[in-house]
Amino acid sequence: MEVVLVLALVVLLGTTGVESRTAQVYEYFEYPAMSCRTHSASLTDFGGVGDGTTSNTKAFQAAIDHLGQYASDGGSQLFVPPGKWLTGSFNLTTSHFTLYLHKDAVLLASQDESEWSVIEPLPSYGRGRDTTGGRFISLIYGTNLTDVVLTGDNGTIDGQGGLWWEKFRKGDLKYTRPYLIEIMYSENVQISHLTLINSPSWNVHPVYSSNVLVQGLTILAPVTSPNTDGINPDSCTNTRIEDCYIVSGDDCVAVKSGWDEYGIAYGMPTKQLVIRRLTCISPDSAVIALGSEMSGGIQDVRAEDIVAINSESGVRIKTAVGRGGFVKDIYVRGMTMKTMKWAFWMTGNYGSHADDNYDPNALPVIQNINYHDVVAENVTMAAKLEGISGDPFTGICISNVTIELAKKAKKVPWNCTDIAGISSGVVPRPCDLLPDQGQEKMTACNFPEDSLPIDNVQAQICTYKRKYL
Ligand SMILES: *[C@@H]1O[C@H](CO)[C@@H](O)[C@H](O)[C@H]1NC(C)=O
Ligand SMILES: *[C@@H]1O[C@H](CO)[C@@H](O)[C@H](O)[C@H]1NC(C)=O
Ligand SMILES: *[C@@H]1O[C@H](CO)[C@@H](O)[C@H](O)[C@H]1NC(C)=O
Ligand SMILES: *[C@@H]1O[C@H](CO)[C@@H](O)[C@H](O)[C@H]1NC(C)=O
Ligand SMILES: *[C@@H]1O[C@H](CO)[C@@H](O)[C@H](O)[C@H]1NC(C)=O
Ligand SMILES: *[C@@H]1O[C@H](CO)[C@@H](O)[C@H](O)[C@H]1NC(C)=O
Repeated sequence: MEVVLVLALVVLLGTTGVESRTAQVYEYFEYPAMSCRTHSASLTDFGGVGDGTTSNTKAFQAAIDHLGQYASDGGSQLFVPPGKWLTGSFNLTTSHFTLYLHKDAVLLASQDESEWSVIEPLPSYGRGRDTTGGRFISLIYGTNLTDVVLTGDNGTIDGQGGLWWEKFRKGDLKYTRPYLIEIMYSENVQISHLTLINSPSWNVHPVYSSNVLVQGLTILAPVTSPNTDGINPDSCTNTRIEDCYIVSGDDCVAVKSGWDEYGIAYGMPTKQLVIRRLTCISPDSAVIALGSEMSGGIQDVRAEDIVAINSESGVRIKTAVGRGGFVKDIYVRGMTMKTMKWAFWMTGNYGSHADDNYDPNALPVIQNINYHDVVAENVTMAAKLEGISGDPFTGICISNVTIELAKKAKKVPWNCTDIAGISSGVVPRPCDLLPDQGQEKMTACNFPEDSLPIDNVQAQICTYKRKYL
């Protein structure tokens, strides 16, 4: 009985098999994806060399460009075999495409700047995040695509970020550092079952896209590395992030939608975002940050089953005068936190402007923010909730929360200014701006019961089979 169960699980979860016949050897993989492909190729068919020193930029680009011919004929998948594949940036030039990394495949990002072209800043940012002007393209870059899958059997993408962090710290960079994966203006995107390490900067950046599924990513970077955000959905609609484990030097998930006057003009919110079963370690940043670039608006975020260890804050709102936009209809349910500086943190004076041309009258609207079922221990300060004078953050609802303060906790556990809302069943007793509604309102701070379209996206089991000599 047990043996049968184990076999069934192995088949369902995807297997690596080498099947030997008299003269033929097959490689066979199964993996879950939003869509499967008819045509397959291996990087080695295009001259790829997995020795860790040969550049594979041309091989990747040639393979993907070649596979583009199958976009309207069932699509294609490119297999990256075991090995160390040094590469500069390459482009996903075709829709209906899957990149699949074997569990022992490691993509090593080139540290040679000439392997990274410089592209325009994002219109909703007006400039690069590190520097004014252009930015280095991401390691894996795709734009204007439909139906792309980046996945593997936990295969690795190593950004080799050390040199970039060093240059950034010294102010030696002319352009903004590259991200590992950036997908722009696309729909039906899956990024799953990969291990991302040491990104030069942000790890996963879907922007101006919809129907985005992010699953089973392990993202690791030194907690001291600059701006190594985990997953940054930016001006995206209908996104689901689940079962990810992130240790990084910046926010584990940072929800964004453009910066100051550029983001306001572009006007594209991030909305209908589901984040579930996220585990985060980020000693100097948030588990989930909303902003600080939120000028296109952030609406309808549903976060549940979140575990945070040794992080600065939980679900944090970051904004400033001049941002405009909104953060509204935010629902958080089921958070467990251990060793935190702040369990709750909202910041209305984040500053950090794109330039001096921001509109001082552009005030963000922060409204309907719900936190429910939270347990935290070893917390330095329960909450710092700081709205904007003349522009209070309203509709804050915090219920069924138990915060155990650290031995060296601040004397006043709650500090609230320019906010309004309610609380129920919260220990220690919240600030007066969140009046207690009594134990019977413990289930206040509702979580939506309906499902979002992205909740209904199902994975199929796809296969890759290849004969080799
Ligand atoms: C990828 O596209 C960018 C701009 O769209 C271009 O500058 C770059 O050369 C392309 N990369 C490769 C490897 O062809
Ligand atoms: C990609 O889509 C955007 C938004 O629809 C459009 O403005 C842009 O011109 C497209 N780019 C390409 C290369 O097709
Ligand atoms: C991939 O990584 C996840 C998360 O660490 C783990 O649960 C899963 O077992 C791994 N899968 C394989 C095939 O190694
Ligand atoms: C509590 O948090 C402090 C840092 O604020 C840390 O040094 C200490 O190890 C933590 N204690 C436990 C029991 O986790
Ligand atoms: C309060 O939260 C805990 C988990 O933190 C949960 O087990 C419990 O059912 C919640 N109580 C109510 C009344 O919702
Ligand atoms: C509370 O926060 C305000 C605004 O950030 C700050 O000026 C004040 O000193 C804080 N009060 C305490 C007791 O920490």
